[in-house]
Amino acid sequence: MRKPKVDMGVFKERRDRLKELAPGCAFLLSSAEELHWMPYRQDSNFYYLTGFDEPGSIALIRPGMDPEYVLFVQPKDPAMEIWDGYRYGQQGVVSEFGADKGILYSEFDKEAVEMLIDVDKLYFSLGNNAEMDRKVYALLDKTMRARGRTGKTRLPIHDPNDILGEMRVIKSLYEQDCMRESCRLSAQAHIEAMKFTKPGVTERQVLGVLMHRFFQENALREGYHSIVASGANACTLHYRFNDDTCKDGDVLLIDAGAEKNYYTADITRTFPINGKFSGPQKEIYDAVLKAQKEVISALKVGMAYFDMQKVAVKSLTESLVSLGLLRGDVNELIETHKYRKYYPHNIGHFLGMDVHDVGLYAKANEGRPLEAGMAFTVEPGLYVPVDDTEAPEEFRGIGVRIEDDILLTASGPEIMTKDVPKERDEVEAICNS
Ligand code: GLY
Ligand code: MN
Ligand code: MN
Repeated sequence: MRKPKVDMGVFKERRDRLKELAPGCAFLLSSAEELHWMPYRQDSNFYYLTGFDEPGSIALIRPGMDPEYVLFVQPKDPAMEIWDGYRYGQQGVVSEFGADKGILYSEFDKEAVEMLIDVDKLYFSLGNNAEMDRKVYALLDKTMRARGRTGKTRLPIHDPNDILGEMRVIKSLYEQDCMRESCRLSAQAHIEAMKFTKPGVTERQVLGVLMHRFFQENALREGYHSIVASGANACTLHYRFNDDTCKDGDVLLIDAGAEKNYYTADITRTFPINGKFSGPQKEIYDAVLKAQKEVISALKVGMAYFDMQKVAVKSLTESLVSLGLLRGDVNELIETHKYRKYYPHNIGHFLGMDVHDVGLYAKANEGRPLEAGMAFTVEPGLYVPVDDTEAPEEFRGIGVRIEDDILLTASGPEIMTKDVPKERDEVEAICNS
């Protein structure tokens, strides 16, 4: 028999919080769809509240009601389990996952109606799965009829992220430890990739070094499709081919992070393939590192989220002018967004169960203030297109991004990915070791 690998108290605590955050409401969460031959990953909100990672399941959670936590699951079926592996079944989800009731998935349409009659609001994520959407529309019709002429009409549907997104944006102590672990092991993988890389190896082989370390450390999977981009490939922000040869004199940009315990890291480092940055590479690298350090040193509880980008844009635009990549007045270049030619993305994003994690960046059109317990990336970059005839020739084809994962605490930022060096001389020393 399989056993859950995480203490179920973690998930119960989260469900218990819903009693205060969403009384009278029900959460209906559908498991992620299964794509055969691909590794299965549970839907993040589903996992966040249940810890249950089987496909073909539905969770119905009614905070404070009885039964409060129901899992609709696939039946125990020895014939099917020979093909697809162990299933917990109706009894298993009660004994191992703390569900109040386990019901067969095939009974959902019939059994769920009664459980929604006294609910005021339904949290359900429309648009992820057409079959599930149809089930829910039919369920709402049946529930409305079952309610009779009580003045209660159709149940309104709300986005679960209104509640769960805001819960997930502040990481608990358990989550902070999970994230530190993903960051630690991903940092090791980056260091090994730096040591391995030399002229003539392929991006694919470097990817293999990263994956080897990820899985040696019992990661569940890559947190996202890794980017191993040599030379001008680094100027493609979501470069995904990873099949070129690393050339002497170029830099290699690696953006990769492992997911462990359902939490992912997201690290980028850029380093010289032959172990020594060229003059122009140094200048671009230093500009990006300076911007990144300026953002990180400005971080504190209460800072507006969007101010991180403002700090980065100011620093990078000043550097672009002093490098001769842009000409003109810095403030005007910022106002007219001219910097976007070389810095086309944002400073970062929330990080957690998903690499671009849930949570609002703005409330009422104001950048939200940063809070203790938030985890996010700080990832400025500069990318000079190889065919940019306006750029000084020596910079063309250079792409640099430096990305760290931050946990904001009451006393300031904790850089969870600090184990991978980013000072130029330290990076070169590792590349040459
Ligand atoms: N690796 C995706 C990102 O940095 O946003
Ligand atoms: Mn990122
Ligand atoms: Mn990244």
